Amino acid sequence: MSIYREPYYYELAFSFNDPVKQVNLFEKLTSKYSKIKVSSFLDMGCGPSPQLLELAKRGYDCTGTDICPGMLAYLVKKAKAKKLKIKTKKADFTDFTSKIKYDFAMMMMGTIGYIDSKRKLLSHLSSVGKCLNPGGLYLIENFRTTRSNEHLFSPQTWLVKRKGLTIRVFYKIDIKDRLQGLETETILLEVEDQGKKHLLKQQAGIKIFSPLEFFESIKESKMFEFLGWFNRETLRSTKIPKIGNYTLLRRKTN
Ligand SMILES: C[S@@+](CC[C@H](N)C(=O)[O-])C[C@H]1O[C@@H](n2cnc3c(N)ncnc32)[C@H](O)[C@@H]1O
Repeated sequence: MSIYREPYYYELAFSFNDPVKQVNLFEKLTSKYSKIKVSSFLDMGCGPSPQLLELAKRGYDCTGTDICPGMLAYLVKKAKAKKLKIKTKKADFTDFTSKIKYDFAMMMMGTIGYIDSKRKLLSHLSSVGKCLNPGGLYLIENFRTTRSNEHLFSPQTWLVKRKGLTIRVFYKIDIKDRLQGLETETILLEVEDQGKKHLLKQQAGIKIFSPLEFFESIKESKMFEFLGWFNRETLRSTKIPKIGNYTLLRRKTN
C-alpha cells in the first residue's frame, strides 16, 4: 500500500482527528468499562499514531505495531522529538504474537476494514485476545457495516495546505461483491511539495462485516464480551454501528 510508505504525506492528508479529545474519551471508556487499572496501550496498524503520542505524554506505556516499517520509524522519530518513549514492532495485525500483555488495545480510523475475511478476523481476535490482560478493553474505531445509505460511499475529496505543500486527497470505495461485503478502497494523493509534484495511489480490498457476522466471530473467539457501539463524540451507545463509531470489546476474565 504505497501511501502508507509515505508517512508524512499520509499524516497530513488524514489529520482531521483531535488526539487530545480522543484520549479523553479513551480514559472515560476505561474508567467506566475496564475491569483493570490501565497503564499500557497497544495500537495496531498504528501509522503515525497521534493517539499514542498523546497517551505517552500522559505517562502511559505505549506500543505501536504496523506492517509498514516506514510508519514505525516515523512514529519513533516524532516521539523522540517530543522526548517521549513509544515502543514499536513490525507485525501483521491479522496474525501476531506478543510476549508482553497490554491493558488496552486499539485499532483506529477504520483500519479494521483491511481484515477481509472471517478467517482473518478470527485470527486477529485470537491474536489480540492473547496479548490483552483479562478485563482489558479492545477499542475499534469506525467498524463499518452493511450500508444503509449509499451516498456515504460516494467519492470524497479535500485539500490540505501547509507552507510550501499542498495535498489534494481523493477517497472512494467501490462495491466489489455486495453479498460478501467486499469492497475496493482507492486513495489518491496529488502532492505538490516545494514545487515538486507527486502522484500517490493505493487500492486495497476491504470487507464490511454485518453485525451478526461480527457477533458470531466474537462468540467463536471465546475471548471477548461485546460492550457496544458508541458514538465517538458523545459516547452514547447506538443500536447499530454508525459511521465513526467506537466499537468496544472486553477481554473475558475466565
Ligand atoms: C488507515 S491507516 C491508520 C493509521 C493510524 N492508526 C491512524 O489512525 O491514522 C492503516 C494503517 O494500517 C497499516 N496496516 C495495513 N494492513 C496492515 C496489517 N495487515 N498489519 C498491520 N498493519 C497494517 C498501514 O500500514 C497503515 O499504517
